Amino acid sequence: MAKTAPPPDKASLPNHVAIVMDGNGRWASKRMMPRAAGHVAGVSTVRTIVRAANDIGLPNLTLYAFSSENWKRPITEVSHLMGLFRAYVREDVSQLLENNVRVRFIGNRSRASEDIVALMKESEQRTAACTGLNLTLAFDYGSQEEIAAAARDMAREAAKGELDPEKITTDFFASRLSTAGTPDPDLVIRTSGEYRLSNFLLWQSAYSEFVFVDKAWPDFTREDFFEALDTFAQRERRFGAVTPEAVA
Ligand code: IPE
Ligand code: IPE
Ligand code: MG
Repeated sequence: MAKTAPPPDKASLPNHVAIVMDGNGRWASKRMMPRAAGHVAGVSTVRTIVRAANDIGLPNLTLYAFSSENWKRPITEVSHLMGLFRAYVREDVSQLLENNVRVRFIGNRSRASEDIVALMKESEQRTAACTGLNLTLAFDYGSQEEIAAAARDMAREAAKGELDPEKITTDFFASRLSTAGTPDPDLVIRTSGEYRLSNFLLWQSAYSEFVFVDKAWPDFTREDFFEALDTFAQRERRFGAVTPEAVA
């Protein structure tokens, strides 16, 4: 029987969980289905995990939906992913609103089609006053570009004499990233047995705990999510310091 984990207790919950939802394509291929079917199944898992996160009172959840490198995929797959993303944002916003979920998007908004950009803006506005789960969808997101863009903007302002370079501390730098206002992820989960970040939240995950799960994203369940939270709860985080009991 599959191991199941009960809902985690609130005191041990991380403040922010970020997930690299990986393995849709391989999940489908294994079943002799087209990769597109894996992405469709992946959207169901998104719904399951967003609901679970909201149910347990997790404050922040970030999902990696489409990377800036995913444009390299065949046009048919990219178009299908764009269509699924469009449908998700359009169809789920009312339910997110009903469940008090606030949705935000990070990533480049200049390459997606205008209607998708408009839908993103609209759902951010409609859910802006929600006080439950803070859901961030990383769409056409790439961390290196995010960091380079912030550096470029600051350099421009400094060149014009509008920004004193001495002001650029780590906190200031973080305030210029697309994630400003959201705490750094305490836990990063990646499914499908791959052990890499793939350009996701490079700056923000400096002290994140990592949990890698072998299951592909479409197979990832509410219980698997709780199990990852449980694993997190058992980790000892030191942030470069020493634990009090280790001090001689
Ligand atoms: C994750 O699944 C979804 C996106 C990257 C959009 P993949 O499509 O990467 O699936 P695999 O890794 O090829 O199995
Ligand atoms: C990372 O997965 C991007 C998303 C989950 C959206 P990829 O499947 O694109 O990453 P790589 O290519 O295996 O590193
Ligand atoms: Mg992948």
